[in-house]
Amino acid sequence: MKSETLHPVDLLEKQAAWLDHYHLGLRITEQGIVVSVGDGIAWISGLPSVAMEEILAFEDGSQGMVFDLTEELVGAVLLHETDRLTAGTTVYLSPRPLSVPVGDNLLGRVVDPLGNPLDGRQKPELTTMQPLERRSPAIVARDFVHEPLYTGIKVIDTLIPIGKGQRQLLIGDEGLGRSSIAIDTVINQRGRDVYCVYVLIGQKRSTVVNTIKTLRSYGALEYTTIIVAEASTLPGLQHLAPFAGCAIAEFWMQQGYDTLVVYDDLSTHAKTYRELSLLLRRPPGREAYPGDIFSLHARLLERSTSLNTAHGSGSMTALPIVETKQGEIAAYIPTNLISITDGQVYLERGLFTAGFRPAIDIAKSVSRIGGNAQHPRIKEESGRMKLDYLQFMELEVFTHFGARLEASMEAAIRRGRVLRQILKQERLSPLSGEFQMAWLVAFNDGLFDDVEPDDILPQLALLEGRIKQTELTLNSSREQWIEAVTAWLQS
Ligand SMILES: Nc1ncnc2c1ncn2[C@@H]1O[C@H](COP(=O)(O)OP(=O)(O)O)[C@@H](O)[C@H]1O
Ligand SMILES: [Mg+2]
Repeated sequence: MKSETLHPVDLLEKQAAWLDHYHLGLRITEQGIVVSVGDGIAWISGLPSVAMEEILAFEDGSQGMVFDLTEELVGAVLLHETDRLTAGTTVYLSPRPLSVPVGDNLLGRVVDPLGNPLDGRQKPELTTMQPLERRSPAIVARDFVHEPLYTGIKVIDTLIPIGKGQRQLLIGDEGLGRSSIAIDTVINQRGRDVYCVYVLIGQKRSTVVNTIKTLRSYGALEYTTIIVAEASTLPGLQHLAPFAGCAIAEFWMQQGYDTLVVYDDLSTHAKTYRELSLLLRRPPGREAYPGDIFSLHARLLERSTSLNTAHGSGSMTALPIVETKQGEIAAYIPTNLISITDGQVYLERGLFTAGFRPAIDIAKSVSRIGGNAQHPRIKEESGRMKLDYLQFMELEVFTHFGARLEASMEAAIRRGRVLRQILKQERLSPLSGEFQMAWLVAFNDGLFDDVEPDDILPQLALLEGRIKQTELTLNSSREQWIEAVTAWLQS
């Protein structure tokens, strides 16, 4: 194309012509109008360029998040309890992604998913904001899970060990002790330099109060942040709660700290998401959950990892909790979460009612990567113990028929019964790695063989008393441990 060079006079003339046609008008900034409000959601008209999950600022100062787009209307979930928001309120697009203030001043605090205090104290002084949704760390930034995270629970630390950066699901019917395991684990991080975040989603007020009380009375609040979106809060906030908890822990992980996040629980979270989606008329899928519930939970849990030294060596361990009905693990949300996580601790009602607590079903529980992080000495001893236990569970079936058993089988059953007694543990009584070592060695070396199952508790108490004074560590040799434990038990 031949470029046209204009004479300056012609250019002026052209500009004058353009000015002739110029007329003053309004510059268009996007603005919408609320059409209706109710059930924690708002329908808005206008805002043609809005995208999913964008943040909307309402004229009354409250915020919403875009959750659905139709050809005519924008559906948004509300993030603030307000009664001034009505049909006719003006809405603008907010330029910033939804974020939560993060930092050390959150330790010891109880906040809502947007960082507002719920403990009656001043708003925590924080300058850094972390987006609620963020891409998970790249593969090259990740390390293998290689360090143990001790729960202080005998069954878990020996048979279903958890490593830092692992995602371990706590699954079971309501009331079988899932939250108790999570709380015990948080309490057991005392003095271990692990920052904890406990997210309570859609829980009753009484549960929220009890959780906070327990964590406080065990001195765990000092290194813990509690995020609360209880059952009565806006569904939009409940929906955001796990993402807020994740963002808060993620910030610490990026600073090189080890962190632990409990999501209590993701079944309620999924139900809230379903409720919001149905209200916003998104198409329902299996069990009426929206089709993207899997990717939602996967996005959340993928952010838990162990970072390599080049990226600061921080880690985020996640303990998501999920509820089953009648022990049915094949339901939609439980199977989703089982496949997203690195293993599960399965709690069973039969064990609970039989008095085996924590009611962990060892056969249905698994830790796919935690074994690599286990201390080699604990791993070795646990391996022997596990074989005995599995054999016992097979043999025990025969005792139900009253069949006559060989002497060796009788002995194996007796050993198994002792072991079952040992593995029982009250809640709120976390135990050290050294104690696990002591009882494992004693059991594996046959030191409990003459003890009646019902008389095992005093023996364990004896070990526990001695373990506080010993200089032995997990790195001490097997011989040293056997010698020490034998002496303790004979004293
Ligand atoms: N290890 C345990 N020993 C004795 N009782 C326990 C143990 N773990 C939990 N419980 C009891 O079981 C009940 C339910 O526990 P909870 O953790 O609230 O269950 P969930 O979170 O699965 O609904 C509580 O009353 C708690 O005291
Ligand atoms: Mg619970």
